[in-house]
Amino acid sequence: MAKTALVTGATSGFGREFCRLFAHDGHHLVMVSRDRNALEKVQNEIFKNFSVKVHSVAVDLGHPDAAKEVFSAVQAKGLEVDFLVNNAGISEHGLFHENEWEKDLHMMQLNMVSLVHLTKLFLPPMLKKKEGKILNLASIASLMPNPEMAIYAATKAFVLSFTESMANELKDTGVTITALLPGGSDTELFDRAPLGDTRLYKNTSLDDASEVVKDGYEAMMSGTRRKVSGTQNKIQAAMSKVIPDQLLAAGIRYFMEEKSKK
Ligand SMILES: NC(=O)c1ccc[n+]([C@@H]2O[C@H](COP(=O)([O-])OP(=O)(O)OC[C@H]3O[C@@H](n4cnc5c(N)ncnc54)[C@H](OP(=O)(O)O)[C@@H]3O)[C@@H](O)[C@H]2O)c1
Repeated sequence: MAKTALVTGATSGFGREFCRLFAHDGHHLVMVSRDRNALEKVQNEIFKNFSVKVHSVAVDLGHPDAAKEVFSAVQAKGLEVDFLVNNAGISEHGLFHENEWEKDLHMMQLNMVSLVHLTKLFLPPMLKKKEGKILNLASIASLMPNPEMAIYAATKAFVLSFTESMANELKDTGVTITALLPGGSDTELFDRAPLGDTRLYKNTSLDDASEVVKDGYEAMMSGTRRKVSGTQNKIQAAMSKVIPDQLLAAGIRYFMEEKSKK
């Protein structure tokens, strides 16, 4: 039976791939992002290829009232959300003391607060139905210190911790929650940060976004608590458990620096 999926950050990267997968499986969509034109473009692409209903909400999830706005828009359309994908997020690059506070705050609001607020609003109807699935975008950066991306990594550690605690709270309720931990992947995130000049970007190969999303989608559907996507990232996750944090931080700092640095 067709269900409804709400995907934040639906207009590029992982979010757009999630929309394609849900639509492929016959599920209706509520797409959330800031850019109306970009939403329309993805909406048209989905209409062309799949027979599902697509709604969109243009909102800045970096704003404190945004989650409420999304919830009200969904209620006004008389929709029930069966799958919530908290995907929208931004990254950063640079030393903490050099980065602008307003940008840090916006990132924390988007990556953490709106994600939690959306979960707070959409979870009760799921619990009432004893059915529903939530997927939160964490990162391999959730597992280790990440110099020159300090706040980003902290937001992703928050997402992982929140999701795993919630997975326990939701046991036997019929609702599941999953954290997806991708590594560096080929989306627009790197250009937006910008991370294009880092050794990370120049010296390592980025994962294919559609493969990452396939992993996340399957993990969500099977109710898996935590999914690290990709073999290389699984090795990194295992190493993060045995390598001291200081050493990890030094290694990551090297990759986060600009390639032109000696
Ligand atoms: N790519 C990676 O290497 C990687 C690795 C680990 C985890 N992740 C996580 O994966 C998630 C998706 O990132 P991505 O790589 O797919 O990035 P992306 O290609 O840059 O896509 C980000 C999406 O979020 C939306 N967005 C950005 N700021 C927003 C805001 N303030 N309000 C509402 N929507 C906003 C963007 O649309 P608008 O600009 O139109 O709003 C876009 O649709 C993020 O949470 C990221 O941290 C990415």
